Amino acid sequence: MKATLHNKNILLGVCGGIAAYKSAELVRRLQDAGADVRVVMTSGATEFITPLTFQALSGNPVHTDLLDTQAEAAMGHIELARWADLILIAPATANTISRLASGRADDLLSAVCLASHSKIAIAPAMNHVMWSSSVTQQNINLLQQRKAVILGPASGMQACGEKGEGRLLEADELVAACSQLFKQGLLQGVSVMITAGPTHEPIDPVRFIGNRSSGRMGFAIAEAAVEQGAIVTLVAGPVQLTPPLHVTQINVETALQMQQAVMKHIAEQDIFIATAAVADYRPLDAQTQKIKKTGADLTLSLTPNPDILSEVAALDNPPFTLGFAAETQHVKDYALQKLKQKNIHMIAANQVAHEDQQDTGFNSEYNALQIFWQGNGQGGEQTLERCRKTELARQLLTLLAKQYYA
Ligand code: C5P
Repeated sequence: MKATLHNKNILLGVCGGIAAYKSAELVRRLQDAGADVRVVMTSGATEFITPLTFQALSGNPVHTDLLDTQAEAAMGHIELARWADLILIAPATANTISRLASGRADDLLSAVCLASHSKIAIAPAMNHVMWSSSVTQQNINLLQQRKAVILGPASGMQACGEKGEGRLLEADELVAACSQLFKQGLLQGVSVMITAGPTHEPIDPVRFIGNRSSGRMGFAIAEAAVEQGAIVTLVAGPVQLTPPLHVTQINVETALQMQQAVMKHIAEQDIFIATAAVADYRPLDAQTQKIKKTGADLTLSLTPNPDILSEVAALDNPPFTLGFAAETQHVKDYALQKLKQKNIHMIAANQVAHEDQQDTGFNSEYNALQIFWQGNGQGGEQTLERCRKTELARQLLTLLAKQYYA
């Protein structure tokens, strides 16, 4: 499987060795694999390569000091330790390895390592005699006992002109090794686009036609997809929800804007999930000035909006498509009809406004779904019982992943 670090926060510790220049390339390769990278440099490292290089490459401020009040106020060692999914130290010098083994915390890198629950990967680089010395080997054994992962070193020609074991692994080898440290999700590296929320269709500058969709189901699916390693784009109508982490969110108001945002990025998507409650109609002529009240009846002319999901499903090379159906009656019949009419792979149906259900569906934390799919010649169905939308989203994506790979 291709190395992927999507949605992963990697704290790269750079120590003061001649191989420090190779870490600049490593930042790029980690980013290419999808990681968010922050860099901590030891004071020795700053003698070999400037913090500015890493700042420009990583797009984040570089951290060098433990006792700098300003730096600690921006993102202190505890926050850095919490932020990191993985701490990768490359190159790791004999000195840093020894400091980590003895549990020191008197510089930023050692303090962050001590304060972190995350995995620590150490890529040593040093002269082959330093590497093979018994004290370095004892330190490495100690760190391995504490669950640190040692990557390399490789053998070959060294900066000192001698041959031996102690070269930093190549950037691509380090990225591949880091990727293997993470559990691969069901949708690892798969691009997923999700529409969510209502749309607002303007009548005039102060009024619109809208609906009661909260966007919660779509946002929960976006979070569940991130958990499963997907690369997520969320096209959201007007909602009052916190943007999920590691998601590219595009905010829109109207159905036409949603259609435009979807179509602009659909070619890169493997899966399209339409949870949005798109308005079926929009006012034909939205007024540019506020409509004044009169005593007379007012008639609004409406025109149909494009059906975004059908449009995506009708593309020459469509992604895997999952639609939603909110029905008040005959849920199964209508859902199956919709599956065929829109020619989509899967549909999730929920019954809204049923007299037995107080807190389910459109504007609730809870939902229950009946899922139907068209397989290769053989379709299927499954009911997902009422539960929190966050949990429901996980179950739905497990089902979807099965059909996507079938
Ligand atoms: O046809 P109906 O509106 O019932 O279909 C609902 C499904 O189609 C949902 O998945 C919804 O997100 C999608 N849809 C769409 N564009 C529209 C209307 C519905 O993508 N204009």
